[in-house]
Amino acid sequence: MHIKICEVAPRDGLQNHTVDVPTDDKITMVNALSGCGFSIIEATSFVSPKWVPKMADASAVMTGISRTPSVQYMVLVPNSRGFENALPHAPDAICIFPATSEDFCQRNLNATKAVTFARFAEVAKLAHAVNIPIKGSLSCAGYCPYAGDIAPQTIADDVQKLLDMGCSEISLADTVGKITAEKSKSVLDAVLKHAKPDILSGHFHDTHDLALDNVGVYIDAGVSLFDSAILGLGGCPFAVGARGNVDTKKLVTYLHAQGHTTDIDMDALTHAENVIRPLV
Ligand code: HMG
Ligand code: MG
Repeated sequence: MHIKICEVAPRDGLQNHTVDVPTDDKITMVNALSGCGFSIIEATSFVSPKWVPKMADASAVMTGISRTPSVQYMVLVPNSRGFENALPHAPDAICIFPATSEDFCQRNLNATKAVTFARFAEVAKLAHAVNIPIKGSLSCAGYCPYAGDIAPQTIADDVQKLLDMGCSEISLADTVGKITAEKSKSVLDAVLKHAKPDILSGHFHDTHDLALDNVGVYIDAGVSLFDSAILGLGGCPFAVGARGNVDTKKLVTYLHAQGHTTDIDMDALTHAENVIRPLV
């Protein structure tokens, strides 16, 4: 199968990173990633700087990067204020990011789950009005660091809500990297009753080395888009115990070994690693 990859390191990789990466280095990072063959790069997030200080330079990052036409530069938006701040930078897509659990909505977005979904529905309306595609990234799609196991039907119901908002892609996220292949199968059994696999994607934090097992299960179900992060960077300030996203080179090496194709140029990826490693 041909697999597309969304590189999330400039956003997920840096939002909780131990090192403070200066804006110019973030721009260098995005530019180095732009030549690797990614379909999408999550460039930054327009969230509250009080909540996530490391993303406070979102506007400067979007202003400074050189955009490659074949890449969609996506940004995270938590509310309409974030959307207004992002809009002048003409993002190719936005990502809204509710969670399946009440606890994670509270910790990550300071709101109940109902308010979180209502807020993101408002953002979706704003994005539709100006024809910006919307990715819905559903945190804790199987396991929440605070509430524990999440029932597949809850995840399927939340996917339906994101579909109703008009999301053109829905990413199912293993926020802390605890979801097993068996759990992923039961999640997909429920979700695929609502959504076709070609609009789904997988976002796996690789804390316990389970990411590739889950990628395999998702591919078997027909999913062909995955998030990953160069050098395995990643984490969330509000997800205790989360380590990085699945390492991009680890993912691509696995995919090619399994006989799948990607648009990733391995030499360019190695070059990007060499550029980015000293910055982070
Ligand atoms: P709040 O404090 O309830 O918001 O936060 P508020 O509306 O009361 O506003 C408080 C202050 O923040 C105000 O400023 C607002 O103007 C300002 P003041 O009047 O006090 O000076 N403000 C903003 N400033 C800039 N941009 C904005 C914005 N919004 C408000 N967009 C809020 C609620 C949702 C804003 C906050 O909780 C937030 O920003 N949360 C984002 C948390 C986050 O970024 N988490 C990491 C990304 S999600 C993730 O990593 C998971 C994912 O990878 C998938 C997975 O792995 O699970 C996607
Ligand atoms: Mg994440």
